[in-house]
Amino acid sequence: MEQTLMMVKPDAVARNLVGRILARVEESGLRVIRLRMVHLQAQEARAFYRVHEGRPFLDALVAFMSSGPIVVGVLEGEDAIRRWRDLMGATDPAKAAEGTIRKDFAENIERNSVHGSDAPETAREEIAFHALSLGLRG
Ligand code: CMP
Repeated sequence: MEQTLMMVKPDAVARNLVGRILARVEESGLRVIRLRMVHLQAQEARAFYRVHEGRPFLDALVAFMSSGPIVVGVLEGEDAIRRWRDLMGATDPAKAAEGTIRKDFAENIERNSVHGSDAPETAREEIAFHALSLGLRG
């Protein structure tokens, strides 16, 4: 069993897409084992995306991710990291495969509706980052 972090981003929450995105997760067989709506402060969004420090898109990404509520969750299942990434599709919706969440819902490469961890170590770090919100400790 593997766990991965899911975020439904502000663009998708604002367009009432939370239920449809969660339905795709559940229909895939992945289990939603933690779930919470939160509104990140800019400094929290910057800390979450610190791996992108120095990239030209970071300031805009931080402003976007703190612009409204997001839904944070932990998904569990065999090979959960890869399966959630397959459901999401490529970062850039213009390059995402047919039937993926980003192909169907994302507005552009920044406002791309969802986030998922990219590897086991990242998943552990990202779940730990949101642990307090998700009731995992404290
Ligand atoms: P995400 O998978 O959450 O990881 C980093 C985020 O930065 C990405 O999705 C997009 O929301 C955003 N982003 C904006 N521009 C780019 C870009 N050129 N390359 C990668 N990510 C970008």
